[in-house]
This record gives sequence, structure tokens and C-alpha cells, in this order.
Amino acid sequence: MIHIGAEARVTSGLWLGIPAVLKSRRRRGYRHMELDARLTKSRITVEAKVLSRLQITQFSAPRLLQINHEEGWMVLSKLGGNPIYESLVGDSIGEDYMFKIGEKIRELHELGLSHGDLTTHNIMIDGTGKISLLDFGLSRISAELEHMGQDLQVLNECLSASHSELEKGIEDVLIGYSESSSTESPYSPESVISRFNQIRNRVRYMG
Ligand SMILES: Nc1ncnc2c1ncn2[C@@H]1O[C@H](COP(=O)(O)OP(=O)(O)OP(=O)(O)O)[C@@H](O)[C@H]1O
Ligand SMILES: [Mg+2]
Repeated sequence: MIHIGAEARVTSGLWLGIPAVLKSRRRRGYRHMELDARLTKSRITVEAKVLSRLQITQFSAPRLLQINHEEGWMVLSKLGGNPIYESLVGDSIGEDYMFKIGEKIRELHELGLSHGDLTTHNIMIDGTGKISLLDFGLSRISAELEHMGQDLQVLNECLSASHSELEKGIEDVLIGYSESSSTESPYSPESVISRFNQIRNRVRYMG
């Protein structure tokens, strides 16, 4: 068992000889049964779709090995390393990684995808310093500017709440984000950052 959360339970083992994890959606007792089943199905379907898309690119994320929509589980290839949450709290990675994380988020956005839950628990770093993303159940496949701005805002809030010791935090993420643009993505890094700043001010103003 490597994780028991509010939504999912993750165990680790071998799948046809490949290091893998089994991610099962947990039933939420307090939710209406039908609503619960619908939410589970929609999240798992979205996650599977996004992972399948990422699989045909160079993007580093788990590979989808098996899925059962009805029962609400997936088998994914196991990523090495740990969530950056642990490394940041344990002070074992330098702040320059925030720059690389910004680049990784931009790479995802350039594929037209948003993540939806970009906390430091859903960003992995392995022993070689390679960054990967996981947990795509709240992603958008045709992401709009607002979704991309929200990704930066979720990470910003997570960094301020859990990693306030980082000197620059989100500012370094934004540098990485804006320096790694390549293609014909409909939304430039500048437009996403500008939307993020609007969201950030909106949140500040509303308290
Ligand atoms: N493919 C994987 N390889 C390695 N570790 C994984 C993998 N998938 C999940 N994990 C570990 O399990 C944790 C939880 O997985 P995930 O983020 O996908 O679930 P979750 O939807 O956030 O669950 P909950 O909302 O219940 O916390 C991750 O933070 C990570 O530590
Ligand atoms: Mg997660």
C-alpha cells in the first residue's frame, strides 16, 4: 500500500513483470450512490484518456496498463522517486527545480491539456531529477485559458500553504513556464500568466 487518500487507494506491485501501481477509487460513504458511481466513472475515464494521449508523446507520466471503468480501477506503470512535496519539506531538492516544474507545466499546456489538481503531491521527482506529473482525473482535454491559469493558481496556493519557506516559489515556476515555449499552442505563456495574475488578484481581493 503506498497511498490511502480521500478518493483513491494506491498499491504497488508487478503487472506482467512490470513495476506497477493499482489505483482504485474509494467509495465515498457520504455521497449518494449513483452520484458517487458517476463521479468515479467520469474521473477514471478522463484520467485514462489523458494518459493515453500522453503516452504517444514524450511527456513523462505513468503509462496506462489496464483499466476497469465499472469497478473503478486502473493499473499504471510505477514512476520512480517521490512526490516533490516530500523533497520540499525535507529540503532535499534545490529551488532550481521550481524552474523545471514550470517547464513541465508548460509542456502539458502546449499539448492542449490542463491538469486540474497541480499540488506538490501530484508532481513526482526521481533520483535523476526528472519531473513527472500524475493524477489526471480532473484534467481538461481541450483546456481553456482559465483552466491553464487555474493550474498555476492551484500550485501557487499549495506552495504558499505548505512550502512557504521557499524564497521565490511560484515566481521561479513562472520563469520556467515562460521560457519554454515552442509551438503553435493557442495560448501563449504570457497570456496564461496574465490570466493567472487576474485569478490571483481576484482571490486576494475576495479574501
Ligand atoms: N504511477 C505511480 N507511480 C508511483 N506512485 C504513484 C503512482 N500513482 C500514484 N502514486 C502515488 O500515490 C499517490 C496518490 O495517487 P494519486 O495522486 O493518483 O491519487 P489521488 O486521486 O490524489 O488520491 P486522493 O485524492 O485520494 O489523495 C501519489 O501522490 C503518489 O505518491
Ligand atoms: Mg493526487
